[in-house]
Amino acid sequence: NSDRPTTVIADVYRGTFIHSTQTTAVQILEDALLGVDTQGKIAFIGKGKELDKLSQTFGFSPSAVTQLKQYEFFMPGMVDTHIHASQYSYAGTALDMPLLQWLNTYTFPVESRFKDLEFAKRVYTHVVKRTLRNGTTTACYFATIHTDASLLLGQIANDFGQRALVGKVCMDRNNSVKHYKETSQESQEETCRFIAELLNKKYPLVKPVVTPRFAPSCTGALLGQLGAIAKNNHLHIQSHISENTEEVKLVKELFPESESYTDVYHKYNLLTDKTVMAHGCYLSDKELDLFRETGASLSHCPNSNISLCSGMLNIRNVLNHKVKLGLGTDVAGGYSASMLDAVRRALDTSKVLTIQDPDHDTLTFEEVFRLATLGGSQALSLDDQTGNFEVGKDFDALRVDVVAPGAPIDLIQNEDPKILLEKFLNLGDDRNIVEVFVAGRNVVPFTEPTD
Ligand code: GUN
Ligand code: FE
Repeated sequence: NSDRPTTVIADVYRGTFIHSTQTTAVQILEDALLGVDTQGKIAFIGKGKELDKLSQTFGFSPSAVTQLKQYEFFMPGMVDTHIHASQYSYAGTALDMPLLQWLNTYTFPVESRFKDLEFAKRVYTHVVKRTLRNGTTTACYFATIHTDASLLLGQIANDFGQRALVGKVCMDRNNSVKHYKETSQESQEETCRFIAELLNKKYPLVKPVVTPRFAPSCTGALLGQLGAIAKNNHLHIQSHISENTEEVKLVKELFPESESYTDVYHKYNLLTDKTVMAHGCYLSDKELDLFRETGASLSHCPNSNISLCSGMLNIRNVLNHKVKLGLGTDVAGGYSASMLDAVRRALDTSKVLTIQDPDHDTLTFEEVFRLATLGGSQALSLDDQTGNFEVGKDFDALRVDVVAPGAPIDLIQNEDPKILLEKFLNLGDDRNIVEVFVAGRNVVPFTEPTD
């Protein structure tokens, strides 16, 4: 039969699927059938009543279908567009200073310890497991300046089956902490070694990302070199921008020739359609236009913005400028590694803006759900592979049980799937996430990787 697809079906699931599309923030597919092929890609999405037809077309046995229980649904895995894996050990502490002092007092001394690969392995294993368990199927990580420890983070993400962008951090100026510095030349050479060695591993879901820490940590010369490396190798780029007013002032002093903070990165070819910049609280409309024109995206990190008293990003304004936007936990400036927390803090921030200005167009939970999933994948330019349940994309998904034993939700007053989603987003935790899939593979509960 020439109509018969060549794909081989590995798994078929039946039940409620909730995801976002470009036009609909929350689309609900009730009693749907979703088939995953042996490559981990979504082979079909149909209706439950089409089971016989689909099983014939795709050649699977109806008895092999996994049926979700009542109060269970699938949603896309969440995308953390900005997280410092190297800061996970002190998450939940040290939030009593503004950004620049916080970096010198807490962050740089801890990051300097990643020269020690045993320490790195311990922290990176914990952060990958914690984020996966909390439903982060894709993470965009900052590591430290240490190439070998950064490679280890890539290996650990690969071993546990998480999709990840991993960056070796670059910083060649303004660091008062001993043993946590590199010269411009070291930074450039080690970035090239990091990229080459990580690509050489051929991990299917882990990619390198060029990572100047932020403009105050880098000379113009280094920024220019990193822009060139990213361009020549078609790589992702990540950094921080306009997070805190002192930082914005410092950038003006360090780069007097640049018109704006955004202009500094733009000048060194660091704003591309594969760039994600964290924070952006103080960007002008003109700077947002430059993001839009270059295709660069923003990572909204609301827990960190509040915890370090940095500022409040007006997401509505970012969306109105049609800038790609995702959510980030920004551990450890943000104290929680869970994307559910990022969802809640994003809603809180928008509501505080509405308290301050009743004309502010408050974000809906549906919109924030999209930011945590499809929005994040777009912000990382991975939306051709992940972000929602479209045929041809990888099956990155969370199986959510709204009434899972031990989880913090016990009473269901309304069974409407959209209400169940809202309950989970506002009240749920990792105990509600009973299974996690990345590229079709069941990665939670864990199977510990073998050495
Ligand atoms: N800006 C430069 N480095 C950092 C960092 O580690 N965390 C945060 N939140 N902002 C930064
Ligand atoms: Fe950060």
